[in-house]
Amino acid sequence: MSQDTLKLSAARAAIQYVPEGKVIGVGTGSTANFFIDELAKIKNRITGAIASSKATAERLASHGIRVFDLNEVDALLPVYIDGADEITHSGAMIKGGGGALTREKIIAAAAERFICIADASKLVTRLGSFPLPVEVIPMAWKPLSRKLAIMYGGTPAIRMRDGQPFLTDNGNYILDIAGLVIEDPRTMEAEINQLAGVVTVGLFARQGANICLLGTGQGVQTLRFPDQSVQLKQ
Ligand code: 5RP
Repeated sequence: MSQDTLKLSAARAAIQYVPEGKVIGVGTGSTANFFIDELAKIKNRITGAIASSKATAERLASHGIRVFDLNEVDALLPVYIDGADEITHSGAMIKGGGGALTREKIIAAAAERFICIADASKLVTRLGSFPLPVEVIPMAWKPLSRKLAIMYGGTPAIRMRDGQPFLTDNGNYILDIAGLVIEDPRTMEAEINQLAGVVTVGLFARQGANICLLGTGQGVQTLRFPDQSVQLKQ
């Protein structure tokens, strides 16, 4: 079975977590795109969506799904549905392969539940095989590269596209740190987020996924992570 087939099966399974008449949060990436296309089939049952990137906003709008600004919504979103680059058996994730990590983390923090949709290759016992994305203020990328290499021993590289630094939707750069072995993602998330010039690290460990719908060759597995407390949500 292809990876896309597994992503689609996870995306389809997420539809059952979409409540009627609400605004939901929607992520970015190829699995999220499958989800948006499935959401379009039931679009009349929801009020609309908050998009974690310009690309997601465009795809939602192209299906006639109303896109809201997060500040237009007065309560926690019932659910945020998004993919991941890696997810552990306790729900900690690396995200940001698509460069949308900051908006993803903002919307996830404003939602009661994070439903991760992923193909089976994303489930890992330890984070770090996928290079860890860090969104940084452009003037800080070199000093931050040096500092991160000293702190964690990996190899940070600025993300490039078409010979230029990749720019996030927020106008910032991404450092991808390869070669990490992440034993304590919660501590690392807090440490990196405190460095001057860091906008967001793509570790989602302090507020990880509540549920992961994992597309496997034997069907969609539901992994539940009861430790993720809604009390931490804003
Ligand atoms: C985008 C993300 C994506 O969720 C992550 O990169 C997974 O992408 P895909 O579904 O294409 O495998 O964090 O910033």
